[in-house]
Amino acid sequence: MSTSRRGFLKGVLGTGAVAGAAAAALPGCAPDIDPAPVLDVPAPGDDGKVSLVVPRYPDLSRDGGAVTLRIPGMENLLLVHPGGETFAVMSATCTHVGCPLGFNGQEAVCPCHLSRFGTDGRVTHPPAKVGLKTFPAQYNAATQVVTIDLKAGDVGFPSVVNGKVALTFAQFPQLQTSGGVAQGKPQGYGNTLFVFRLDDGSFSAVDGMCTHQGCTVTFDSGANDLLCPCHSSTFTKEGAVTQGPATVPLKKFTVTSDASGVTVTVA
Ligand code: FES
Ligand code: FES
Repeated sequence: MSTSRRGFLKGVLGTGAVAGAAAAALPGCAPDIDPAPVLDVPAPGDDGKVSLVVPRYPDLSRDGGAVTLRIPGMENLLLVHPGGETFAVMSATCTHVGCPLGFNGQEAVCPCHLSRFGTDGRVTHPPAKVGLKTFPAQYNAATQVVTIDLKAGDVGFPSVVNGKVALTFAQFPQLQTSGGVAQGKPQGYGNTLFVFRLDDGSFSAVDGMCTHQGCTVTFDSGANDLLCPCHSSTFTKEGAVTQGPATVPLKKFTVTSDASGVTVTVA
């Protein structure tokens, strides 16, 4: 590996546990895959959208190109251009142990242990087991602008209305029983929301973005906690850290309930 490539990885990774994990893994790197070049972009407006004029960025405009978007307040994203008018956006951080991803023209590739991911975020080659978060990207051929919707929601999950997300028991019957959990990305919020029915019958709602470096946690029903796939931080259903490297609790929301369902206040 060249000195410049190590420097690049260090720059993308920063310092701390991730950098250490990646540095330990670098001797096994794929010879031809580097993390995609970093592009700093401003935080999105209230609509959650970020737009880029594609021809301005040679690393992105060529077929098979890709850039790593560094956006204030959120995890880095990989914007890829397999070819033509097709663009896709996914998390730029490998879900194995957190290395920054590159793009081979067809798939996101991790230089550290060669995991690969399709442009739909699904794992196509291990050791990673957890897919990447994805975001919709639309290309306007007339203006040559690609627009990324960072607040798009999961189909079938309630949207944010007046700062609240309402989950009815009719739609989420599991929340009527202690131990029940509902999760999804509400349109208008952008991150994954977890809502739990706790053992005492009360409710808890937390943001699924890990406070270490922004990966999305998953609910581990066996351990009954939330696990971050990137560097193994764990959290209780109420967001408290039970294992680092994260040190800050998950963001927690106010939850109210009535006979018809649960309302989470997200703004
Ligand atoms: S960090 Fe191991 S495959 Fe990506
Ligand atoms: S992003 Fe590092 S533990 Fe979650």
